[in-house]
Amino acid sequence: MTPEELLKLAKEARTHAYVPYSGFSVGAALLCKDGKVYQGCNIENAAYGPTICGERTAFFKAVYDGERDFEAIAVVGGKAGQEPSGLFPPCGVCRQVMREFCDLDFKLYMGKENDGYEVRTLGEMLPLSFSNADMKE
Ligand code: THU
Repeated sequence: MTPEELLKLAKEARTHAYVPYSGFSVGAALLCKDGKVYQGCNIENAAYGPTICGERTAFFKAVYDGERDFEAIAVVGGKAGQEPSGLFPPCGVCRQVMREFCDLDFKLYMGKENDGYEVRTLGEMLPLSFSNADMKE
């Protein structure tokens, strides 16, 4: 699966977003090491706090299905109904959820305008991270 193919699935996932409050839709496509892809979108809530990001929707679907080994995630975001107009970097909460299940070489393909993207590792996105390794003696 190429980064472009994964980004295309993230764009498709974006069309599923439920965003009546922010009007900002996010799509994610999570590639597992076994080749399966899980898509996710953001789902908002009138009480705001229960809103879930697109990246975590994808992760939690995959973890529910028993997936534990992940290769990469593609993410795209922007004003709902419009093409992305700038780089989309995942929020800190989503980066921490990624750290729970991914090594530091896990790749993030962040979509931007004109179907472009930038790639970073999780280690670059979340330096000096706290993980389950830090809870071992
Ligand atoms: N959002 C995501 O889905 N992922 C992120 O990493 C950042 C923000 C969503 C949450 C909310 O529905 C909307 O984007 C505006 O913050």
